[in-house]
Amino acid sequence: MRVLVTGGAGFIGSHVTRVLVEAGHGVTVLDNLSRGRRDLVPDGASFVEADLADEAATEAALQGHDAVIHLASFLEVGVSVEKPVLFAENNIVNSVRLLEAMRRAGVGKIVFSSSATVYGVPESLPLREEDSLGMQANPYGATKVAVETFLGVYHQLYDFDCVLLRYFNPYGPNELCEPETHAVPNIVRAALERRPVPVYWGGQQKRDYIYVEDLARAHIAALNVEGFEVFNVGTEAGTKVIDIIDTVSAILGYDVAVDDKGERPGDVEASYASSEKLRTQLGWHLQVDLEDGLRRTIAHYRERLGIPE
Ligand SMILES: NC(=O)c1ccc[n+]([C@@H]2O[C@H](COP(=O)([O-])OP(=O)(O)OC[C@H]3O[C@@H](n4cnc5c(N)ncnc54)[C@H](O)[C@@H]3O)[C@@H](O)[C@H]2O)c1
Repeated sequence: MRVLVTGGAGFIGSHVTRVLVEAGHGVTVLDNLSRGRRDLVPDGASFVEADLADEAATEAALQGHDAVIHLASFLEVGVSVEKPVLFAENNIVNSVRLLEAMRRAGVGKIVFSSSATVYGVPESLPLREEDSLGMQANPYGATKVAVETFLGVYHQLYDFDCVLLRYFNPYGPNELCEPETHAVPNIVRAALERRPVPVYWGGQQKRDYIYVEDLARAHIAALNVEGFEVFNVGTEAGTKVIDIIDTVSAILGYDVAVDDKGERPGDVEASYASSEKLRTQLGWHLQVDLEDGLRRTIAHYRERLGIPE
């Protein structure tokens, strides 16, 4: 298949692009490099530097493609609270621009990077695709719900095939957020630099940490889906933050110090997925367990930060 990957120069998109190329698909990355890096685009993929706000450039890039994997967006939750209009424009309006460009270019298949955040505060665990969407606590989450809704509209109006992948907590090489707000890169960086790791709630919060390569492979499976479908992508296990710290300590061979920050209002106590639908309907399965994933992530940050063994 010929696949256009928006945001393919970013953290998750770079891995999605690599697994697509390895599986023999023809891949074009479209990215404006606002966050991504050109050197993260794997060999074997074409690259178009363009902004989704430029509908004509997107339409031109789409020619000859069979499907789109749409990852491009802004994602820092705190920034979304400060700049809701920026997030609405880039994440919602630019997604609708992409859908319009697809319609004109005759490309009717899209896989979208949604998020577990759409469920809000979980009413029961594990979270399942049929669970109702929750009230959103920040503009970022609202943009994901809005784009999911627009995809439903394009499915009904124009018969687009739409696959919504609700990611849980991806981690691994190439994370780019500045400031970094995700637990795993912050723990790994602090541990390698022998700084204390800031921890809330005594590290008892549970999240569903999925290695980015396992997440990336879900996109390949999704390309064969027709109609409108939603899939959670997680490991189906809730892992405590403190367990991540303990595993990193065991891998590094020294105790990682913890800076206890107490309680943080607004944090969800536990969130993890059922990915049964993805496993049973698409034959996807996990290949990288937490310890292996953390080893690979530590190796990446060692090289990136210039910290020898
Ligand atoms: N990282 C996570 O923890 C996480 C969790 C759930 C969902 N997601 C979603 O996954 C997707 C990818 O996230 P990521 O962590 O790889 O982020 P990232 O910032 O590393 O990648 C996003 C890429 O999109 C590009 N981009 C942004 N706006 C663009 C525009 N208007 N035109 C062209 N390119 C544009 C950026 O340059 C960047 O390369 C996002 O949609 C995000 O919301 C991420």
